[in-house]
Amino acid sequence: MGSSIFDQYVEKRKNITKNKQVLLTTYVPNILPHRTAQIERIASIISSALNGDKPSNIMVYGKTGTGKTAVLNYIGKELRKADENEEKCKYIYVNCEIVDTPYSVLFNIGNQIIVEDSRRIPFTGWSFEKVYSEIVNYINNMNKVFIVVLDEIDKLIDRKGDDVFYYLAKINENLESSKVSLIGISNNMKFMELLEPKAKSRLGGESVIFPPYSKDELEDILRERVKEAFDENVIEDSVISYCASIGAKVDGDARVAIDLLKTAADIAERNGDEKVQEAHVKSAKNSIEFDIVSEAIKTLPPQSKLVLIAVIKNVESGNSSMTTGDVYKAYQSLCGMIGTSVLSQRRIGDLIGELDSLGLITASIRSFGRAGRSRIIELNINKMIIENFKQDPTFKFLESYRHPSQMRLV
Ligand SMILES: Nc1ncnc2c1ncn2[C@@H]1O[C@H](COP(=O)(O)OP(=O)(O)O)[C@@H](O)[C@H]1O
Ligand SMILES: [Mg+2]
Repeated sequence: MGSSIFDQYVEKRKNITKNKQVLLTTYVPNILPHRTAQIERIASIISSALNGDKPSNIMVYGKTGTGKTAVLNYIGKELRKADENEEKCKYIYVNCEIVDTPYSVLFNIGNQIIVEDSRRIPFTGWSFEKVYSEIVNYINNMNKVFIVVLDEIDKLIDRKGDDVFYYLAKINENLESSKVSLIGISNNMKFMELLEPKAKSRLGGESVIFPPYSKDELEDILRERVKEAFDENVIEDSVISYCASIGAKVDGDARVAIDLLKTAADIAERNGDEKVQEAHVKSAKNSIEFDIVSEAIKTLPPQSKLVLIAVIKNVESGNSSMTTGDVYKAYQSLCGMIGTSVLSQRRIGDLIGELDSLGLITASIRSFGRAGRSRIIELNINKMIIENFKQDPTFKFLESYRHPSQMRLV
């Protein structure tokens, strides 16, 4: 084999992980610390399916990264162990974020049940009602309990697709020997209030809450992962507590903590380091933030991009804490350069508020004594992110911009 530009990396690279799979978000761990209460509660409710009875419907609530999906997948695996050939019950998992129309929800459920190719539900072409009655006919006399898990169920509401719950909840009225029970998973505690009354009354059942993880709980979760993922003594203790403290700050999100650990390990491996240290976590944090913030900027509406550019232009001309008026002046000249319509100062004030809630800028009210109160705006993103934003077509177009204060009055 000849030499290659990759040799230097391959040589430098040290493998410190024994099983990287374990750190992927798709991995379902066998041990879920601090979720025993939720697991037992859900398992005890759906256990009646093993006796052929219909379990109550369940709503699971909790913020992102609190283990809802992991727990419900784990329960599905355990149920399968208790009923190996799916004689008594069938567990059906649907992610409504991906499967996002009422038709595709039914299509997905139906095709997890229907085995004969000739009876499969087509991807398009049928009415919603036809798919529904096909499923009813198919399962009607199977004498089985179907447990349908609808993950990210609140996403369907945003898309006005909540009729499907109503249909699924009333399906039992049309069934003879089979039964369907529903488990909805929502990030939004107010999910029930968002439902149409007719769906709400049918969907009601038990609620199970997944609270955010504390720092200590996240440490336990990470420690279990570390055992499976890495060789011994590769992860320094401070790394676990550091990742856990950041996860705890971000709404007790286990995904944040695990991602951070994974990225830190990737960085250590790439550097050829033998241990993962706090410094690796710090650079992991920066690189994850970089991706998240850059993505947030990339997807801003054009007018908001202009407002952000106006803030950056102020900072670059030496005005690092500015008023709404300063932003507005810069914004107006930017609009002039592009030839786009100029929004009112009030509307720009709203957009400034939105950029503030995204964390890209900070807009705080300051009092100036008798002069009254005014908003002071500061830029919150680092140099690297600004440089990256400068590659954006809008920004590139404005390269020849001159700040109002630099323009000479004639
Ligand atoms: N108690 C736990 N023990 C081990 N891993 C967990 C636990 N809770 C969450 N995780 C892991 O954290 C990540 C996010 O969890 P997930 O179930 O997707 O959260 P949610 O569905 O609530 O947003 C996943 O990788 C999951 O495996
Ligand atoms: Mg989830």
